[in-house]
Amino acid sequence: MRTRPLKVALLGCGVVGSEVARIMTTHADDLAARIGAPVELAGVAVRRPSKVREGIDPALITTDATALVRRGDIDVVVEVIGGIEPARTLITTAFENGASVVSANKALLAEDGAALHAAAEKYGRDLYYEAAVAGAIPLVRPLRESLAGDKVNRVLGIVNGTTNFILDKMDTSGAGYSEALDEATALGYAEADPTADVEGFDAAAKAAILAGIAFHTRVKIGDVHREGITEVTAADIASARRMGCTVKLLAICERAADGASVTARVHPAMIPLSHPLASVREAYNAVFVEAEAAGQLMFYGPGAGGSPTASAVLGDLVAVCRNKLGEATGPGESAYTRLPVSPMGEVVTRYHISLDVADKPGVLAQVATVFAEQGVSIDTVRQQGKDGEASLVVVTHRAPDAALSGTVEALRKLDTVRGVASIMRVEGE
Ligand code: HSE
Repeated sequence: MRTRPLKVALLGCGVVGSEVARIMTTHADDLAARIGAPVELAGVAVRRPSKVREGIDPALITTDATALVRRGDIDVVVEVIGGIEPARTLITTAFENGASVVSANKALLAEDGAALHAAAEKYGRDLYYEAAVAGAIPLVRPLRESLAGDKVNRVLGIVNGTTNFILDKMDTSGAGYSEALDEATALGYAEADPTADVEGFDAAAKAAILAGIAFHTRVKIGDVHREGITEVTAADIASARRMGCTVKLLAICERAADGASVTARVHPAMIPLSHPLASVREAYNAVFVEAEAAGQLMFYGPGAGGSPTASAVLGDLVAVCRNKLGEATGPGESAYTRLPVSPMGEVVTRYHISLDVADKPGVLAQVATVFAEQGVSIDTVRQQGKDGEASLVVVTHRAPDAALSGTVEALRKLDTVRGVASIMRVEGE
């Protein structure tokens, strides 16, 4: 074994960073044996230097992250500060100054992954980011390496723990959205500003990263159709239950049937209770990958939290250190297919539509005509009448999303339709 240590700079020492530092110390001998050389924490860049950080030598703490990545003797920079800047500049500077990078930064990779990969390639460094998608769950490496000989056609999953916790709470306790969000906040699942999670930005960033790797193309967060869970009501959940379904926030990345384009979307959807994703409870994540030769694969586990995310970071750290010792680099960006990303309107899906209508002759025929005019085929209709009004629940067959949303728009214009109580896509059948 080489005795000269590989030097690691840690950018960020919050929930994930402090756990990375702790495991690096407590598992130092095992890590050295697995890598073939010891790894040494050479510096830790933080915003608040006065905070007590147990187990970390205070002499390693600095507020000057730029100077740390410019030192020239750093082998690997671990970036766990998140956000676009200064993370992007620090990563690029690290590459220029001889270091490879392990990052957990989903927002940056989904926004500017191509430029970061190009910089890594230019300087002959590694860029690894298993922790950016679904915490501890190995997904990036299976897609980048294990499935590199197969053809992935679909990635479907729950990639945000906070929203899964909220929807699970609504489902199991009948709570409304706000009440379930309050509980998620009190238990530390939701952040003080939960926007990134509940509006689907976090899941959309992960969907962009997964789609890019799975289909060997480039997908940015702006290409991902995104709807969050803030509009999901207790009535939606109850309606899903009546259909034998539950509601999940899904990330769905698909290769078109003709193979000429891809789509990526994040939205709440009803899935049958018999679907394996329906049993993913609390803040867990799970992802299905469908590949031509492999068939269906399912990955399940904790998608957030300091320790699980640190596990993914350390796995990458070991891989990158091994590459360094072997004077090699791991897989870089594979985006050779250059497939275009189609808009949501072209996605083929099913809708569950709940309408409040007048209960009088001809209303059902009027409603059915709207579906027919938009070329949307009805699968089931359930009606319940009360005092001259009726609640009508229509589930469609598969149709392009543009035709389905056109149907809803036309239904809203009917005098006999008092209101559209809920619209939700149905997936996983
Ligand atoms: N906030 C994310 C979640 C974890 O709730 O799953 C980090 O991506």
